[in-house]
Amino acid sequence: MITVALPKGRIAEDTLEIFKNIFTQDFSFESRKLILEQHGFRFLLVRNQDVPTYVENGAADIGFSGEDTLKEQGARVTKLLDLGIGKCQVVVGMKKGEVLDPRLPEIVVASKMVNIAKDYFDSKGMSVKIVKLYGSIELAPLVGLCDAIVDIVETGTTMKENGLEPVATIMESSVKMFANRESFIQKRTEILELKQQIKKVLEA
Ligand code: PRP
Repeated sequence: MITVALPKGRIAEDTLEIFKNIFTQDFSFESRKLILEQHGFRFLLVRNQDVPTYVENGAADIGFSGEDTLKEQGARVTKLLDLGIGKCQVVVGMKKGEVLDPRLPEIVVASKMVNIAKDYFDSKGMSVKIVKLYGSIELAPLVGLCDAIVDIVETGTTMKENGLEPVATIMESSVKMFANRESFIQKRTEILELKQQIKKVLEA
């Protein structure tokens, strides 16, 4: 049995679609259920940010989540495959026309990705105060909660509709398949076989 942690929403749906393709059978969670056992797999439906935690701690053998989430959580896992889906960028966003002024004594940045944000401004040698938020990040600079945000941009629509624009790109992200380090030793053959099957479906 291989336990697979999936992030609720689009990525879980897309990943289950890949499993459907590989094994030519339906993989779908019953309403409200958080565990699905099928065809030698046990799927866990978890919050996006929690996927690396389940895998790192061995509650799941493998997981699927964005590179951004892996980086933010500092997950110690074995990366296996870039699925090339869920592509997005982590950017610094500001009100249209504004620029990052490195001479400011301190810049206030709102984000749900506090570690990525902190690392970025540290690497630029800029003093930063991070305000942790849980969503609707684009609102924060509009009401004076911060000077800039660090957030995900997929189509760019949310920023644009709220009068913001990216001023710097921190990283590119897409969905990665990764494994618990111990599981990758114990269940290496099965995990590598699954990786190959997924790769085949993606390349088809
Ligand atoms: C994400 C992200 C942006 C938006 C970007 O938000 O935080 O707000 O998607 O997508 P776009 O570039 O295609 O407009 P999410 O939907 O996860 O909501 P939340 O952060 O407000 O919870």
